[in-house]
Amino acid sequence: MIRILMVCLGNICRSPLAHGILDSKLNTEHFEVDSAGTSNYHIGSLPDKRSIAVARKNNLDITNQRGRQFIIEDFETYDYIYVMDKSNFENVIKMARNVEDIAKVKLILNESHPDKNLEVPDPYYGGDSGFDDVFNMLDKACTIITQRLKDK
Ligand code: 4NP
Repeated sequence: MIRILMVCLGNICRSPLAHGILDSKLNTEHFEVDSAGTSNYHIGSLPDKRSIAVARKNNLDITNQRGRQFIIEDFETYDYIYVMDKSNFENVIKMARNVEDIAKVKLILNESHPDKNLEVPDPYYGGDSGFDDVFNMLDKACTIITQRLKDK
C-alpha cells in the first residue's frame, strides 16, 4: 500500500479537494489517500460548501470527509505528504523529527511546475471562481502524481 497525505491550513478548502481528486484517479486496492490541516480550526468539520460544490460540479463527492489536524505520526503513516503552500510547508517541517520526515514533504504544484515553488492560493476569503481555479490546478497536479505513482 502506498499512502499519500494532502495538507493545507484548515483542511476544509484545498486539501479536501486534492484528497478527493487524487483518490478518484487511483486504485484504492494499492493506494490510500487522506488529508489534514496544520491548524485545529476545523476539526470534525465538513469541507467548505464551495469545495463541496466545485467537486460535485466535477462529479466528485467529498462529503464523506471531515477535518482533522496533522499529527507527528502522519510522518510514519504516509509515504508522500503534499502541502498546498509555503506556510503549510514550514508548519509541517517544524514537526519533522529527521531527514526522512523532511524528504516526504513537497509543494504539490512542484509536480506540475517542477522547481517553481508555486502555491495553491487559499480560496477561503475569495469568491467561487477561486475554487474553480484551485480545482483545475489540483486536477493537473494529481494527474501527474497518478502517472508517477503508477510508473513506480
Ligand atoms: P484551507 O483554507 O487551508 O484551504 O482549508 C482555509 C480554511 C479556513 C481558514 C483558513 C484557510 N480559517 O482561517 O479558518
